Amino acid sequence: MTVIVREAHDVSDSDDQHCQSIDLLAVARRHADVALSWAQRHGRRDARTYGLLSHGEDYEVWAIDWPVDGYLELHDHGGSAGAFAVLAGSLSETTADADGEWVRRPHDAGGGRSFSENHIHGIVNLGTGRATSVHVYSPPLERMTFYRLVDGAMVAERTDERAESNWTP
Ligand SMILES: [Fe+2]
Repeated sequence: MTVIVREAHDVSDSDDQHCQSIDLLAVARRHADVALSWAQRHGRRDARTYGLLSHGEDYEVWAIDWPVDGYLELHDHGGSAGAFAVLAGSLSETTADADGEWVRRPHDAGGGRSFSENHIHGIVNLGTGRATSVHVYSPPLERMTFYRLVDGAMVAERTDERAESNWTP
């Protein structure tokens, strides 16, 4: 299914207007070195890999390594706010803009954004090599609901709970 109707290139650190007492994007960037080191050890060409770098009461930090064409379909964050920073390669993020139009934005190495607790997005690596990113969620994720588009409308498909043994962020 083709869901992208427009390509945007005005990458900004944060498109959502929200108050966040913790600068989650700054937290993500502070973990860049350890995330890259983690990815060197655990990144794979054939699968998305992820590692929990830090977990506290206020937030958690994950490193994620993405193979070419690796993706995570449209999802929410169960009421957590968050941020991600791209450390290597490039990731493309699909979101709905203010008009409800689906837009894909590239985030190259050095880029990233924060997002509110209501944010829904999908992420894919459309680059020619692996990509590494670091993600922060506040409070730590408890669940994520995944969606598919049916005639342009989002339909919830499943909710993954952290308590499940196959939990992945
Ligand atoms: Fe996400």
